[in-house]
Amino acid sequence: MAFVEMSKIYKVYPPNVVALNGVDLSLERGEIHSIVGENGAGKSTLVRILYGMIKPSSGEIKIDGEKVQISNPSEAMKLGIGMVHQEFMLIPSFKVFENIILGQERSTLGFINRKKAAKTVQQIIDQYGFGVDSNTVVSQLSVAAQQKVEIIKQLYKKAKVLILDEPTAVLTPQESDELFEQITRLKGQGKTIVFISHKLDEVLKISDRITVLRKGQRVTTLENKDVNAIELAKMMIGRNLSQISKRESQPGKEVLSIKHLSVRSNRTNKEVLSNVNLSVRAGEIVGIAGVEGNGQYELVQSIVGTIRPYSGEIIVNDTDLTQAPIRERRKLICYVPQDRKYSGLALKATMLENMIMTHHLKDEFKKGLLALDWKKAYSYAKQAAEQFDILYRSLDEKPEVLSGGNQQKVVVAREFSLGYTLIVLDQPTRGLDIASTEYIRRLILQMRDAGKAILLVSADLDELMQLSDRLYVIKDGKIVAHIDPSKADIHTIGNYMLGVVN
Ligand SMILES: Nc1ncnc2c1ncn2[C@@H]1O[C@H](COP(=O)(O)OP(=O)(O)O)[C@@H](O)[C@H]1O
Ligand SMILES: [Mg+2]
Repeated sequence: MAFVEMSKIYKVYPPNVVALNGVDLSLERGEIHSIVGENGAGKSTLVRILYGMIKPSSGEIKIDGEKVQISNPSEAMKLGIGMVHQEFMLIPSFKVFENIILGQERSTLGFINRKKAAKTVQQIIDQYGFGVDSNTVVSQLSVAAQQKVEIIKQLYKKAKVLILDEPTAVLTPQESDELFEQITRLKGQGKTIVFISHKLDEVLKISDRITVLRKGQRVTTLENKDVNAIELAKMMIGRNLSQISKRESQPGKEVLSIKHLSVRSNRTNKEVLSNVNLSVRAGEIVGIAGVEGNGQYELVQSIVGTIRPYSGEIIVNDTDLTQAPIRERRKLICYVPQDRKYSGLALKATMLENMIMTHHLKDEFKKGLLALDWKKAYSYAKQAAEQFDILYRSLDEKPEVLSGGNQQKVVVAREFSLGYTLIVLDQPTRGLDIASTEYIRRLILQMRDAGKAILLVSADLDELMQLSDRLYVIKDGKIVAHIDPSKADIHTIGNYMLGVVN
């Protein structure tokens, strides 16, 4: 008999989103069970039902063969089910140990036995080798350490099942490896781990069994040893993915040159970029790797002109743009911003208007002195929408009705068809489904092969490794490494990102 048995789980979000359509999930004691699926497949909904955060529309849950009602997380906890969320729920100003015992302090006598609690917390930390000091204030901890605290908290509450929803999304490769070691140790102690990820290599590294969800349905549950990444991807998206192949780059003349660039924060006056030097040539993709918040954003914003550096130079095609207005730069730079909904698109404008933005500055779309040639604009937009494979009904509809993947394609179509030699990409595939991600990556390579100079900022190391011809690592606003990704190991890059090598 399975330890936990979820059967025929349905969930309809009002008014009519069928998030789960009769899903079964069974969990054994002492197994690592992964749930994989594309964005929106229903993974989070399924585990939130098990944790009592969401009420299913129908279906039943059994634990050790007995039917249970789990109406809220504290009931789940009583049944031994714990969960670590995508967003942490710790109190930053409290110590590790205080966070862990929070909500659990009351002994039968009604007062807190802090000493005993501290001892128990320390025992858990030592037993599983978590290596965090229970007296540190949480705000001082790295993201990875905060995640550990969340896990320890669940163990302190005696979780037998530990649900981790996309835990590695916020981790570097070595932090992920460390997490996997701990997960494996937990399994060794008989815990059941539910691991959610869309990174198939991770899933194949640690799982005993894998459940694949697609569009709210369970495709299958299988033993890890019976499946490989290609087969899993196919089950997730329902068809074969073609492999992306990449030719040797043929770099030409220098298109973007950044020299001694330094930027101070408006708020704190601290240096957020320090003496950054980099170049991008025609026909190559130059990646920027780094833990988020190490200056990537300021670098991109200095190039597109929303941030003014206090020293250094930004040169595009031999034109010094360091002090140029944004409008001047937009005549030289194709730019895909990280935030497609608010910077990339005007959601309340039509698709046509979105596609023509920036293009309207070009002479070819002018009619007379000031007016826009709408007819020409329309036929350009229609052609571009087709070329870039955008699924839409009419150019008069608003991009807010499109899926995330198609919204991003609108931005990419507009920017790539501007035709300028420099392309600046900030997180071009973040949050997109697999098919759109692969599509956009392939386009990026096509643009490179067409001779564009591409600067690629991404938090996704796999993406950087797959696409970049050269890679810079940025840490604390400084370029700390310049790497050939075809020769480097992903862990070496991770070490530079974390600053554990010099
Ligand atoms: N609170 C909500 N209200 C309405 N729809 C939701 C809500 N949460 C999730 N959904 C929808 O349910 C589906 C499954 O979402 P989710 O369980 O978050 O998927 P996953 O975790 O696999 O990405 C998606 O279509 C999503 O848009
Ligand atoms: Mg999710």
